[in-house]
Amino acid sequence: MSGSLAARSLRSVWHPCTQMKLHEEEPPVAIARGEGAWLHDVEGKRYLDGISSWWVNLFGHSHPHIKAALADQLERLDHVMLAGFTHAPVVELSERLAALTGLGHAFYGSDGASAAEIALKMSAHFWRNSGRPAKSRFVGLAGGYHGETVGALAVTDIAIFREAYAPLVRLAATVPSPDARGAQPGESASDVAGRCADALEAWLNEHHHETAALILEPLVQCAAGMAMHDARYLRLARALCDRYEVHLVVDEIATGFGRTGTMFAHQQAGIRPDFICLSKGLTGGTLPLSAVLTTDSVYEAFYDDEAARGFLHSHSYTGNPLACRAALATLEIFEQHDVLARNAVLARTLDDAFAPLTRHARIRHARRLGMIWAWDVATSLPDFSRRYHRHAMAHGLLLRPIGRTIYAMPPYVLDGQAVQWLAQGALAALQATLGEEKSPA
Ligand SMILES: Cc1ncc(COP(=O)(O)O)c(C=O)c1O
Repeated sequence: MSGSLAARSLRSVWHPCTQMKLHEEEPPVAIARGEGAWLHDVEGKRYLDGISSWWVNLFGHSHPHIKAALADQLERLDHVMLAGFTHAPVVELSERLAALTGLGHAFYGSDGASAAEIALKMSAHFWRNSGRPAKSRFVGLAGGYHGETVGALAVTDIAIFREAYAPLVRLAATVPSPDARGAQPGESASDVAGRCADALEAWLNEHHHETAALILEPLVQCAAGMAMHDARYLRLARALCDRYEVHLVVDEIATGFGRTGTMFAHQQAGIRPDFICLSKGLTGGTLPLSAVLTTDSVYEAFYDDEAARGFLHSHSYTGNPLACRAALATLEIFEQHDVLARNAVLARTLDDAFAPLTRHARIRHARRLGMIWAWDVATSLPDFSRRYHRHAMAHGLLLRPIGRTIYAMPPYVLDGQAVQWLAQGALAALQATLGEEKSPA
């Protein structure tokens, strides 16, 4: 049965981020249902979702509270366009996000890339409305990832995603990443942050007249391979953006909703950004939704008699009531279950369980922030990631390394058995993969 669904999928579905020809060897896994941290395939085999299905799932699959909220919402209102109309879920969600972040105006999109583009457009349009149209360029961090639509690719600095499309894109500038792994002998993570902030300052000093915004992933550049940096960089970047009159856009699409230990990563630096992009965990991993939050002063620059000074952007499903209701249910779970404190305990349990992997002789730069773990592997295997993924799946575990970096970003609901399954499977998959170095398959 799985074979037939996989075969039909290969005939009719173009899968994302995939060289389809590779599926000749390994067909896609047909999943029949998800429950808690587990995905069950059509043949009854189960896989622990160690990466929360591309970092979206927070409280496990098919969470009863979110399901009940969605069922209730379906009885009331499935969708209405948000231009000229409003509804309770979008209003309540906007109020709650404002209370959580201090940014009181929420604009909605459908996915992470659209949120990144909305923030960039809003920033440049703000400067235009403020009589400074030259400020229309952007700067991001080396290795930054903000999505793969043409506008988002402009600030995504990952060669494999960008190369083929570079001629379509108005590339943004990049400044050095404060990735703590880049520390020179004797340097601390905070020193790296300071050095990279100096490079940002040098760049802004020269280009601020034409720069609308700096966009970055706070504390963890996830797609770069869970590159982590010191919170000091965010404080220094905030100060520089203030000094040079450049917006600071924090892309919390992957880091938001408790992933880094606080509700939002930038809060660990005690800063207030001009824009926050949210998606992924916003709906607990059930429905696509994104939001861009911004300040009163940005909002007011668009408030005018003239239509052309308004923010001209829309998606058909902007503010979809079902997605907003899923987001509200997600925030209720945070409130009712003291999630951040419980995650801190779970993370220490996972640290202990991962200790044998962390101590493995081939591991470099073992690191964790909140509920994100990463280990770089010293290996010569060029296709390490694919091989490791295959072995992990054989152990009933969904893990997909980025290059030679294994990482885990599990849902927040692992019980003792799931913790052991994840940690033991991650180590076993490493041993099996390294075993192929001598006898390549
Ligand atoms: C930091 C960050 N920004 C933006 C995106 C793009 O989100 P989406 O895949 O929903 O377009 C991602 C996706 O991984 C991300 O990690």
